[in-house]
Amino acid sequence: MKVDIISIFPDYFAPLDLSLIGKARTTGTLNLSVHDLRTWTHDVHRTVDDSPYGGGPGMVMRPEPWGQALDAVGSPGATLVVPSPVGKPFTQAGAHELAGLDHLVFACGRYEGIDQRVIDEAADRMPVREVSLGDYVLFGGEVAVIVILEAITRLLPGVLGNADSLTEESHAAGLLEAPVYTKPVSWRDREVPDVLRSGDHGRIARWRRDQSMLRTLTRRPDMWADYPPENLDKKDRKALLEAGFQIPPGRVAE
Ligand code: ADE
Repeated sequence: MKVDIISIFPDYFAPLDLSLIGKARTTGTLNLSVHDLRTWTHDVHRTVDDSPYGGGPGMVMRPEPWGQALDAVGSPGATLVVPSPVGKPFTQAGAHELAGLDHLVFACGRYEGIDQRVIDEAADRMPVREVSLGDYVLFGGEVAVIVILEAITRLLPGVLGNADSLTEESHAAGLLEAPVYTKPVSWRDREVPDVLRSGDHGRIARWRRDQSMLRTLTRRPDMWADYPPENLDKKDRKALLEAGFQIPPGRVAE
């Protein structure tokens, strides 16, 4: 996958040399370039911002450097990704969609954002996705790009040693993952649940499934409400009732 990042703070992206993203770059799975937006300024102060039309606080990023930057790094198959608090919430499903594309260009806004004409003009010639990490406001898109890239890169073929990690992890199938344990068996008077040491794969799978449902139900009622009822079988219903949860009629497939 080819990725271009445009930012006024290219140094923000130093962590992308590390760990598994660094390795994906070395092996060629991820062909990543970071560009300084000021490369496309032409005044002595290398200006990228100006005051907003209509008034109001803060500054807005001017369209000219952005237009030239996108002309320079865009390709016919590129998708523009603009992290922004007004974007569509970024999810695991969104990460899978982006991971399937050939070329992503990330535009990191700062200040009050980028002049809207940049996004509108880009949308005339390439797919554009404005994505939000959540309902809070960051200083700019740089950290959001690192988060999004991390979520995408781990989905690229060959990046994770064990591809099963992807199918069993939280959000893969609409439920949160069960808790995990390792050695020692006893630590500060807390024991690893017996079932996990039983060697009984059927019981272990049942326990993990129950934990997943209960965690999702209690921590993320929004996810639980979206969980398709046809994905719940009789054993699931029994486990939920035993844990003291009422299942509304029709919620659980027989
Ligand atoms: N830039 C500023 N705030 C943001 C957010 N919540 N998500 C993505 N990009 C942002």
